[in-house]
Amino acid sequence: MSSILGNKLKVSIFGESHGKGIGAVVDGFPAGVRIDMEELGKFMARRAPGKDKTSTPRKESDIPEILSGMLDGVSCGTPIAAVIANSDQHSNDYKNVAAVARPGHADYTGFVRYGGHNDVRGGGHFSARLTAPLTFAGGLALQYLASRGIFVGAHLRRVACVDDAAFDPVNLSREQLLAPGAAGFPVIDPDAEAPMREAIEAARLDGDSVGGIIEVAAVGLPAGVGSPMFDTVEGRLAFGYYGIPAVKGVEFGAGFAAADKRGSENNDPFLVDDSGRIVTSKNDHGGVLGGITSGMPVIARIALKPTPSIAKPQDSVDYVKNENAVMEVRGRHDPCVAVRAVPVAEAVTAIVLADMLLEQGV
Ligand SMILES: Cc1cc2nc3c(=O)[nH]c(=O)nc-3n(C[C@H](O)[C@H](O)[C@H](O)COP(=O)(O)O)c2cc1C
Repeated sequence: MSSILGNKLKVSIFGESHGKGIGAVVDGFPAGVRIDMEELGKFMARRAPGKDKTSTPRKESDIPEILSGMLDGVSCGTPIAAVIANSDQHSNDYKNVAAVARPGHADYTGFVRYGGHNDVRGGGHFSARLTAPLTFAGGLALQYLASRGIFVGAHLRRVACVDDAAFDPVNLSREQLLAPGAAGFPVIDPDAEAPMREAIEAARLDGDSVGGIIEVAAVGLPAGVGSPMFDTVEGRLAFGYYGIPAVKGVEFGAGFAAADKRGSENNDPFLVDDSGRIVTSKNDHGGVLGGITSGMPVIARIALKPTPSIAKPQDSVDYVKNENAVMEVRGRHDPCVAVRAVPVAEAVTAIVLADMLLEQGV
């Protein structure tokens, strides 16, 4: 079960970064959903590398070949399988990784876990390349949700200590939600782009990297989705988010800041709005109470660490010889993984929410 997400909508991810190809099998996707392939392609292109200096120059087409489960652009209800060929591998860049652990990577832990049989080239199955098929599956889930009036969007809330504006947690329109994803650089406030890009470029030129925070939200969800104790919306989303490489923190609504508030400040007053809907006047609960959606926007923030592969020499170990070593990471890398992870966060959110809706039959 290690690379499978979901109960009713089950997404299984396979492949290695420098193997022949990678892909996804999406089981339980409802029949009769018309998939706009152009939109799916655009969504996946937001994650693809090689676009500008904020991402690795590795060029991959990321175009999925759909093998099953779709006929004339409409889902059949049977498993949808898709493969993406790997075409721009530089496996020699990873020759010295075979026994010297790259700090911040899974080389050592993967070696121990799989008795040395894991494919280390390009990070193997741990590689963020695996987020391409995840984004394919998420693109399908996004279109299913959209057909039900539910929308998911995300933006870079913070990069290297530079902040973007936050989503309006109460009156978040579909247009506001989707605007950052449609922009070339995923921020709400256009003034945040230049300082973020400068911080990323400064780190890159210094042979270093920076981290960031992604804010992701969903609107249009009905109240009443999710169950205590362990099938909570927060729990299921967090489980998915932690599958994204480099994710080190997840919070919902006020998150960790709630710990510094008084109850009177943190509680969100209920009211009946002009259309007779039960809403809250603010949204520190992030759209989830008792693990169940309240009908307010679901809002999460995901912290991503700085890219572990940096050009500077780093102290490490040769885990076969059991001796100290110095690691000089070669290869091509994202100086800030958070940028390309924005659509990945949307993909995971869509898969989990679609799965929970289908599972609950609502
Ligand atoms: C979209 C995306 C792109 C990434 N690109 C790189 C990269 O170019 N170089 C790198 O060292 N890590 C990259 N990572 C992060 C590593 O894959 C990840 O840190 C590593 O596999 C260890 O896993 P962990 O950080 O979850 O413990 C990327 C992550 C994401 C989400």
